[in-house]
Formats: sequence, C-alpha cells, structure tokens
Amino acid sequence: MSREIVFPEDFLWGSAVSSYQTEGMNSNCDWWEFEQVPGNIKSGERCGLACNHYNLYDSDYELLSSLGQNAHRTSIEWSRIMPTENEIDNDEIEHYHKVFESLKNHNLEGFVTVHHFTVPLWFEKKGGFLKAKNLKYFAKYCEILAKNYPEVQFWNTINEPNVLASMSFLSAEAPPKKNSIFAFFRATRNILKAHAIAYQKLKKFNPKCSIGIVKNFPYFIQKYENRFMKKWVATFADNVFNQVTINMLKTGNVPLIPLARKKWLRDTSDFIGVNFYNMARFIFKLGFPVDMLLSLPDDERLTQMGWSAYHKGLYEALMRTHNSLRKPIYITESGIGTLDDNWRKEYILEQLIEVKRAIQSGADIRGYFYWSSLDNWEWAEGFEPRFGLIGIDYSTQKRKIKDSAKMYGTIAKQNKIPKELLEKYLLSS
Ligand code: FCB
Repeated sequence: MSREIVFPEDFLWGSAVSSYQTEGMNSNCDWWEFEQVPGNIKSGERCGLACNHYNLYDSDYELLSSLGQNAHRTSIEWSRIMPTENEIDNDEIEHYHKVFESLKNHNLEGFVTVHHFTVPLWFEKKGGFLKAKNLKYFAKYCEILAKNYPEVQFWNTINEPNVLASMSFLSAEAPPKKNSIFAFFRATRNILKAHAIAYQKLKKFNPKCSIGIVKNFPYFIQKYENRFMKKWVATFADNVFNQVTINMLKTGNVPLIPLARKKWLRDTSDFIGVNFYNMARFIFKLGFPVDMLLSLPDDERLTQMGWSAYHKGLYEALMRTHNSLRKPIYITESGIGTLDDNWRKEYILEQLIEVKRAIQSGADIRGYFYWSSLDNWEWAEGFEPRFGLIGIDYSTQKRKIKDSAKMYGTIAKQNKIPKELLEKYLLSS
C-alpha cells in the first residue's frame, strides 16, 4: 500500500447532515416531544438550537466548500413544511429554496433526503408509520417537495428504513418507543411503501432527477459457537435487516405481504445509498432476539457509540449491493464518533481503501459522504458523540475545523489518497 490510491473521474466528495440533528428548534416533531421525557436521552440533554444550522447553513457551506468538498447531503424537515395536516408553510418552502441555492453557489452537489427519522407531531398522533392509511399524508408531503423543488437533482427517499423501524418499534430508543416485533414488521412494510411513494411522486414532477433509498448495512457476525445457532441466528438477523430490503428492490415485492399482487417497489431506485458503521451480533433467548451487540469481542478500541471500527464490513456491503442490484452506489454515510481526531483520519483512510477495493472489484461507486459535516445531535445519545469534521462549541456556536477535515479536503481536491497520507497515518501505526 505504498502507492497513492486514485478514485474515478467525477467522484463526489462530500459530507452529510440531517435537518433535526443540526438545524435546531424543530419543536413541531416527534423527537422534540420525546426528548422532554426524562430518561429518553442518555445524557439528559435537549436538542434545542443544535448547531443553529438553520441560520448558519450558508457560512457552513462556505466552509465545507473551502475545505475541498464538492457535494453535500442534507434533509428537509417535514414538520416545517407541513406544520399541521392541512397547512403548507410557504416561508419554510422558501427557506429550503435558499438552502439549495446556497449549495449551488458553493459548488456543492446537493443530495436531499425526504425523510431522516423525524415526523411531524400531528402525523405521530395519528399513529405515524404504523398505520398504512397514514401514507396518504406522506404522499402529500412528497408531492409538495416534488412540485416545489425542481432544482434538486439527487434525492434520497427514506434514510435507513431498517434502523428507523427497529429504533422506533422494536428497541424503543426512538419515538413512539414501541417494543413489539409485530409493530416492527408492520412499520417496516409501511416505511418501504413510503419509499416507493416518494420515488413515484418525485419522478412524476421531475423525471430527470436521480432518486435512491438509503440503506444501513450492519455486518452480522456470529456470537454462538454451536453450529446450528451460528447459522440460524446470523441468517435471521441478516434477513430481517439487510436481505429484505435487497429483495424488495430486486423483485418489487413489499416483504411481509407475500401474496400482494402489486409490485410496489419495482424500479424505485436509480441508485442505492449505502450507510455503513458497524458489525453486529444478536443475542437470543428462547429463540427471541433480546439484544444486539455492536462491538467485536475483546476490542479495546471502541468509538463513543460503543462500536468497533470494522472496515471490512463496508466492502462487503458495497459488493453485496452491487452484485444483487447492479445500480450506481453512493456511500451516503460513513463516519466515526470520537474525540481522537487522529483516529478519525485513520478511519477515513481505512474506509476509503475499502471503497477503492470495491471499485476494483467492479462496483459502480460514484461518491462518498463522510458522516458528519458538523458535530451534531446524536439522537438518544445527545451531543456527546463527536462525528464532525467541523467541531462545534455549543455554548457559542463557534465552528472549529478539525485536522481530519483538512486531510479529507486534500483527498477530495486531488481525487486520490496521496502516498504521504497513507504512510503518515496508516503505515506508521
Ligand atoms: C445513522 C443515522 C445518522 C447518524 C449516524 C451516526 O444511522 O442515519 O443520523 O445518527 O447513524
């Protein structure tokens, strides 16, 4: 590995955020209410102003662009666009126009996510994604976006359907804090349908835009020594979290309704967004999953999320996506929560090496978005995990460029990992 690592021409180099985690004051959505209940957020913090990115997006984009990035992934806050069931807030529609214009002015190719974990409170009170009949509200939201934002070229429909469904309806770490395998399956089905709805609406009004789902791929490894358990447990977990999405994109069938005639999901992704963070192992009791471990046994170096940095898993996720779906791929999230910025540099390099390996193995990978542009609100973990390339002092909202952001910028500007960087951060350790 003493040679430089070159990426394909026109490769996109970006970083990602989501609206709720950075904008601040999104007080009309489910997460805001969830946070007010003691015990729901580990640190007891509230999201509040977050990074005040709602007001500071323009200078933040300026910073990212000056750091060599040429793309950016962000999301729209549904509860701003539709504060109530029957209301469209035109000021907020205008706000996101300005956001997209600012991206353009800073030469950042915008990837815009329709839904990144939060829903308006009024939607939540109607039963949210648990009820299929509520999908008509989501369809209306998508239609508003489709009609209003022809300037968006790249859309992401739903961020991580599998994570959204499991956090909200299985492990109860997110609103509506349900803990039922039945609710989980029902919500998964409806969220996947929501993806198809978003695709159809966006395509209808802007046939030229490019649309993709964003899938998080935990890499399941075995916890059990027993041969039967080993095979069964990993297969079960992988089927539920990963294979279901791959199958539905391939066949068009919404999983869990095997007899459904309508191929809801046929041709509903022009590209696939791959998010990768961790490996995972399920622990079962009496045949039911009771816990999910996200670290390797004996790994002494865990991230602030308690995760092992498991780089090989990214290659596996990319190749699996490529081999089953044969679509262009963007890595829409890959990142590390740590206070050790040198580790972040190593992490980025290691991940990019896996990306290059997958490209060499034939995958059509067109861009990489580091998670995250800014330190931000990490859901039930509060502000503690620091994923950002840019640090935030939350008491002053001052931005601090980390060295990792500069290193990432060097790679982005040259479209390659120069030999010196590999030698400095990987070969020396
Ligand atoms: C992903 C989420 C993102 C962020 C990272 C750490 O699952 O999409 O919002 O929380 O994890």
